[in-house]
Amino acid sequence: MHTDYAFGLTQQSVILVTMRILIPVFAVLFCGPVWSKHLEADQDTSVPEGWIHAGRVASSDQVELTFALKQQNVDQLRRLLEQVSDPDSLNYGKFLSLEEVASLVHPSELTHKVVQSWLRGHGVRECRTVATQDFLQCDMTVQVAETLLPGSEFHRYMKGQRSLVRSPTPYSIHKDLSQHLDFVGGVHRFPPEMQAVSRAWTNGKQREVGFHLGVTPTVLRSRYNLTAADVGSAENNSQAVAQFLEQFYHPADLAEFMSLFGGGFKHMSSVARVVGTQGGGKAGLEASLDVEYIMSTGANISTWVFTNPGRHESQEPFLQWMLLLSNMSEVPWVHTISYGDDEDSLAVAYMERINNEFMKAGVRGISMLFASGDSGAGCRHLTKGNNAFRPSFPASSPYVTTVGGTSFKNPFKLTYEVTDYISGGGFSNVFPMPDYQVSTVNAYLKAMHALPPTTYFNTSGRAYPDMAALSDNYWVVTNRVPIPWVSGTSASTPVVGGILSLINDQRLLKGLPTLGFLNPRLYRLQGQALFDVTEGCHLGCLDEQVEGKGFCAAPSWDPVTGWGTPNYPALLAALLD
Ligand SMILES: *[C@@H]1O[C@H](CO)[C@@H](O)[C@H](O)[C@H]1NC(C)=O
Ligand SMILES: *[C@@H]1O[C@H](CO)[C@@H](O)[C@H](O)[C@H]1NC(C)=O
Ligand SMILES: *[C@@H]1O[C@H](CO)[C@@H](O)[C@H](O)[C@H]1NC(C)=O
Ligand SMILES: *[C@@H]1O[C@H](CO)[C@@H](O)[C@H](O)[C@H]1NC(C)=O
Ligand SMILES: *[C@@H]1O[C@H](CO)[C@@H](O)[C@H](O)[C@H]1NC(C)=O
Repeated sequence: MHTDYAFGLTQQSVILVTMRILIPVFAVLFCGPVWSKHLEADQDTSVPEGWIHAGRVASSDQVELTFALKQQNVDQLRRLLEQVSDPDSLNYGKFLSLEEVASLVHPSELTHKVVQSWLRGHGVRECRTVATQDFLQCDMTVQVAETLLPGSEFHRYMKGQRSLVRSPTPYSIHKDLSQHLDFVGGVHRFPPEMQAVSRAWTNGKQREVGFHLGVTPTVLRSRYNLTAADVGSAENNSQAVAQFLEQFYHPADLAEFMSLFGGGFKHMSSVARVVGTQGGGKAGLEASLDVEYIMSTGANISTWVFTNPGRHESQEPFLQWMLLLSNMSEVPWVHTISYGDDEDSLAVAYMERINNEFMKAGVRGISMLFASGDSGAGCRHLTKGNNAFRPSFPASSPYVTTVGGTSFKNPFKLTYEVTDYISGGGFSNVFPMPDYQVSTVNAYLKAMHALPPTTYFNTSGRAYPDMAALSDNYWVVTNRVPIPWVSGTSASTPVVGGILSLINDQRLLKGLPTLGFLNPRLYRLQGQALFDVTEGCHLGCLDEQVEGKGFCAAPSWDPVTGWGTPNYPALLAALLD
C-alpha cells in the first residue's frame, strides 16, 4: 500500500497511450495561456510582512512539489461522514480504516496515468505517494518545476533564521491536466504565524504575578469538574498536538511543568511519540503550552506531538501534516491544532481539498480541533474605507470542531467565565452553513441581539466557534522557566482536546467507538452539559461603524464562545452511549 510511486514496466503501455494524447499538449504549452488554466487563481501570492526577498533560486536547485490528485467519490465521503457522526444514524460510529478510505477516494486510473505521464515527460521520477494515493510528492529542479507550472518563478525568502522557497507569481497548468489536479503545494502560501503570547505587559506596565489566580492544571480541572479519578486508563487511547513552527517543546520543560503543577492527579510526564523533526530554534511558548495542557486535562493519556517546521524550503508544513495523516493507518483519536490563515487569502480549491482531508479523518473516527484565532472577528479593509470581518481557515471549515476562548469573570477567583475579547469567531464567506448548525445559528441571528451591520459578515456561512475554554492567564514552563499570563485560543484548544480524549477513554472502556467528528452531536445537545458563556464581546474592526467590536456572547450558542465551556461529568454522561 505504502510503496513509493513506481513508474514500472507494467505501466509502460499505458504511458505510451497517454503520451500520444499528451504530445500535442506539450507542443502548445509554449504557445501562451489559452491552453493553460489557473488552479488557484484566487490564491493571495503576495509576500507577507517580515519576509525578505533573497533572490531567485538557481534553476538547478531542487524543489519539492506536492500534487493534490483529484479524488473520487467525494460526495459519498461527505454522506458517510454525516452518517458516522450522527448519533441517530444506524451507522453512527461505524468508522472506516485508512484502507477503506483509500478504496473510496483514491483517484481514477485515468488521473494517475495522465499525471504520471506528464511528470515523466518532464523527467520527474522521484515521487512518493500516500496510502490513499491522492497526493504525489516529487523532487525536481527549479527549471523543471517552472516548466511544469508556467507562470511560476521560484524565489527565496528569509525571516530570521528561516528560509523558504515560494513563487510570487501565479502558476498555471495545462487545461487537460486541470481536471486531474486540485492544486499544487509548495508554490505559494507562506506559513502563517499564530502563537500564544504572554500578556505579562499591559499598557507598558508589568502585571503583578503573585496577585492573580493564573490558570494551572489544578484550576482547569477544578473549573471543569474533573476529579482526581478522571484520568485516562484505556489501553489504546491517544491524543496529539500538531505544530508547524520553527520551535520545539522540550521534554525537560514538560517534566518540570508537571512537577510544579501536576500535583493531585495521575499524569504522564513525557510524550509517547514525536512524529517529524523538531525545529532548530529554541523551545517555544506555543509548543510548550500545547503539550503541557493537553496532558493536564487529557491526563494519563498517551500523547503524540506532530511537529514539522518544513523539512524542505519549498514545503508547506500544514499540508505535510495532512499527507502524514493519509499515510499512517494508526494515528491518535484527537488532534488539536493552533493554526490559521485569513480565509480570503487562500484559494477556494485549496480549502475545499483540505476539507476533503478533514472528512477523510472524520470517517476514521478522528476528532480535529482547531483554535478559533486570536483576533476576534478580525478585520479586512475593503475599498473606500469599507471594512468587513475576516474569518480564518481552518477555523471556518464545516468539518472541524473550532474552539474559542474565555476568561474568568473575576481574574482573582474561580468564578464563571466570560468572553475573552481575543476569541476568534464569525461566519465563513466560502463554506455554506452546515445542516447541523442551521437552526441554532439562525436562532442566534433572529434573537434580539445587537448584531454588527450585515455588510460585515455573511449570514449564510459556516459559523464558528463550536465551543470554548479558558484562554487567558496560563502558566507555561518554557526553557525551564515558568512564564505567567500566557494567552490565546491555542491554550483553550488543547484543554478541550484533552477533555474529549477523557470521554473517548470512557467510551473505549465500554467498548464504544470514539467520538470522531463531534459537531453534529454537539449541536444536538443544545448546550446541555456545557457552561453557557453569555457576557462580553470580542474584537472587530476599529472603525466608526463598529468601534472595535465584533460579535457578543449571548445565551445559548454565539459566534464568540460557541456553545460554551465543558462541564466534564455532565458532558461525559451526555456522550457516553
Ligand atoms: C508514505 O509512507 C511510505 C512508507 O510507509 C513511504 O515510502 C512514502 O514515502 C510515504 N509518502 C510520503 C509522501 O512521504
Ligand atoms: C460542576 O461545576 C459547577 C460550577 O463549578 C457546579 O455548579 C456543579 O455542581 C459541578 N458538578 C456537576 C456534576 O455538574
Ligand atoms: C494510566 O493509564 C494506564 C494505561 O495506559 C493504566 O494501566 C493505568 O491504570 C492508568 N492509571 C490510572 C490511575 O488510571
Ligand atoms: C490495542 O491495539 C492493538 C494493535 O492495534 C491491538 O492488538 C489490541 O488488541 C488493542 N488493545 C485494546 C485494549 O483494544
Ligand atoms: C457568503 O457565503 C456564501 C456561502 O455560504 C458564498 O457563496 C457567498 O459568496 C458569500 N458572500 C460573500 C459576499 O462573500
